[in-house]
Amino acid sequence: MTYRIAVAALLYAMFLSGPALAQSGDVDRGEAIYQTRCLQCHGDEGDGLGPAAERLNPPPRDFTLGLYKFITSAFDADLPNDGDIIRMIRDGMPGTAMPGWGDLLSEQDILDVTAFIKVFAELEGAPEGQIDHGAQVPTSPESIAAGDRLFHASERCSECHGVQGKGDAVKKLKNDNGDRTWPRNLTKPWTFRASNGVKDIFARITAGIPTTQMPSFADPKSKKRLSIEERWHVANYVASLAKTDKVVRPENTVIQAARLAGALPGDPDDGAWAQAPPSTFFMLPQLVGRERFFTTANDTVSVRALYNDTAIALHLEWDDRTRSLPGDAAAKAIADEELYEDAFAVQFPVTIPRGMEKPYFLMGDAAKPVNLWRWSSGTTDKAGSIKLIDAQGIAAQEVRESHGLTALASYKDGTWRLVMTRPRATGTPDRDLQFEEGRFIPIAFFAWDGSNSEAGTQHAMTTWYWLLLKPSTGAQPIIGAVIAVFLIGGLLAWWGRSAGRTPS
Ligand code: HEC
Ligand code: HEC
Repeated sequence: MTYRIAVAALLYAMFLSGPALAQSGDVDRGEAIYQTRCLQCHGDEGDGLGPAAERLNPPPRDFTLGLYKFITSAFDADLPNDGDIIRMIRDGMPGTAMPGWGDLLSEQDILDVTAFIKVFAELEGAPEGQIDHGAQVPTSPESIAAGDRLFHASERCSECHGVQGKGDAVKKLKNDNGDRTWPRNLTKPWTFRASNGVKDIFARITAGIPTTQMPSFADPKSKKRLSIEERWHVANYVASLAKTDKVVRPENTVIQAARLAGALPGDPDDGAWAQAPPSTFFMLPQLVGRERFFTTANDTVSVRALYNDTAIALHLEWDDRTRSLPGDAAAKAIADEELYEDAFAVQFPVTIPRGMEKPYFLMGDAAKPVNLWRWSSGTTDKAGSIKLIDAQGIAAQEVRESHGLTALASYKDGTWRLVMTRPRATGTPDRDLQFEEGRFIPIAFFAWDGSNSEAGTQHAMTTWYWLLLKPSTGAQPIIGAVIAVFLIGGLLAWWGRSAGRTPS
């Protein structure tokens, strides 16, 4: 007990003061841990070429270079602090394949493996210089406004991170290995590999992110250099960019469609959309069907829904760094290899299932077919368009004339907003989902980033969620009762299970 606390205190002290406490890792023990836990990605020789590396973007770090990205030593120091390496091993790096090991490895294990990986580049001792934090400027509207100006002045940060910080690229960036890299979308703090705490952001601006094109803004040679105080302003501004209303809440699996008395807004930028609460979901690479693709670009979608007596409209919003416009030279220049249209699809079962049984999540199957509403963003010669597709699995897709399905999209500063509208009822209930109030309707989403060579079966997707057309107030208690029955049922089942368990 006291030992654990002592080690925790040591780690904490190292994290804060880096070089003051040299690490006490055992290289031999570290090697054994490395061979069972790290080798498959980082490679036998520590060169980042392990058997799993091929599929990873970003690739695993090459430890023989001795360069680390998330450092608190000075930009011109030759070494990171041990605490920097330890932290990334313990917490992992969101948005990459690098897992956090804090639950599997003890503090001592992490010290040992840290000592071992430093051997690959013969890193010894402590770094010469440390980041000078000066006096931290607390956040305030004035500081954020000052940071906003500095972020955009001579496109200091917006050059790469975009006007609104969404990382919407205007040029291709590469890391030192020549691999494609993307500037971070600063409005999505959950994708930060360190964190979006102001201290971390200050450290990144000050030291840069070695091996990538993210430069140091403390470097006296930089024309865009910032003083310590200015760097705190910029850090406060960046922290303020975090989306708060459009974050994934795992407990939120039901999109609540709100009822309107009048017409539905067809324009994605219409203020009327504020009446519907957004639900945000993670999108993951499609890895089941043929031609698997691991490195999809779109990672979340926010969905709102409105309906009236006759129609239903879905508002879909997702950040996409690139407006993929085939035929456009600028779009071609920023595209990865191929340049296709951006696209988005919403999937529904043809009939609302009884109970919880849903069609196969990837385009249904013969017994349970699905409808796909598939929108494409268009090319220089052709406007955006929407298609209705009947599917009974990936290989059985057929385009059919749609019953009044329409779409309108807008792209601005790294965000697509798309509205899809359809009459609630069609004359063909055996082929089209009919939107009834108060029913839990399965819904799933697919997205393609055309500049990232995504087309066909190579795309990002969600699993099934639910869409609920919330009836006007009078009927709500019934829904409440249904949910209560579900909850109580679940509780009883759990209680029954745990009561049946024998103590071990
Ligand atoms: C599943 C693959 C995978 C495994 C297993 C893995 N890593 Fe990583 N690791 C990565 C990737 C990918 C990166 C690069 C992330 C980036 O560049 O942003 C990385 C980066 C790192 C970094 C660099 C941190 C920095 O600031 O630059 C360290 C240190 C590290 N890994 C240590 C380890 C150790 C130690 C283990 C074993 C206990 C391990 N990794 C296991 C994939 C992996
Ligand atoms: C030349 C392009 C470029 C410029 C200019 C630039 N960045 Fe970056 N930035 C990047 C890239 C590329 C990454 C992603 C690095 C990686 O692969 O981990 C990044 C990542 C970041 C991160 C993510 C840190 C994390 O924990 O993941 C922050 C914060 C950041 N930049 C802030 C800024 C600020 C603030 C400025 C201006 C003072 C700025 N950047 C200027 C290219 C740039």
